[in-house]
Amino acid sequence: MAAGETLGIVGESGCGKSATSRLIMGLVRPTAGEVIFHGLAVFSDASAGGIVLEDYFRQVQAVFQDSSASLNPWLTIAESIAFAPPTQGLGKAHAVKRAHEMLEAVGLEPMRFAQRYPHELSGGLRQRAMIAIALSCRPKLLLAGEPTTALDATVQIKVLLLLLQQQELGMGVILVTHDLGMAG
Ligand SMILES: Nc1ncnc2c1ncn2[C@@H]1O[C@H](COP(=O)(O)OP(=O)(O)OP(=O)(O)O)[C@@H](O)[C@H]1O
Ligand SMILES: [Mg+2]
Repeated sequence: MAAGETLGIVGESGCGKSATSRLIMGLVRPTAGEVIFHGLAVFSDASAGGIVLEDYFRQVQAVFQDSSASLNPWLTIAESIAFAPPTQGLGKAHAVKRAHEMLEAVGLEPMRFAQRYPHELSGGLRQRAMIAIALSCRPKLLLAGEPTTALDATVQIKVLLLLLQQQELGMGVILVTHDLGMAG
């Protein structure tokens, strides 16, 4: 797939969607075949034409339906969203500003939600925070497992618009789903 494209992985239970996702996230190594990112093999050494895993993980983000359980309970939502970009060279003040923009974009009014902790949000609100976290690093590739199915229709549209906007900036999306309508 090319930059800015969307690829749908759709299939029946047990066909290997999660296994493929784990491979793309670099959580397991392939027993056969290769994962190629920007022409570089993900699991080879740089000397053998591979990509440094650190660089790869920086550029690939994932959001899954229950992944909000992995939110850091000690950080406010805004702190979580502003956490990663400074590790990629964005200034602290800019990261905070971007965090507020991302909150706005997923329909979490910053005045109300920026200073809350994960346990003070509902599942759907946490899901939106996860999407904001994943996108705040401006990843080149987003791996998404039914990221919007837990969300209200109006919020779904907001999130899909946000995804489209980032795709125009060159982000690719791999959508893992049972739902052909969503993939379409
Ligand atoms: N760790 C493992 N060891 C051996 N076989 C496994 C392992 N994990 C998954 N499998 C097998 O690989 C196949 C694909 O599993 P996978 O979890 O990727 O399916 P899936 O498409 O995500 O299904 P679902 O829609 O139910 O989540 C299944 O037959 C499963 O039993
Ligand atoms: Mg699965």
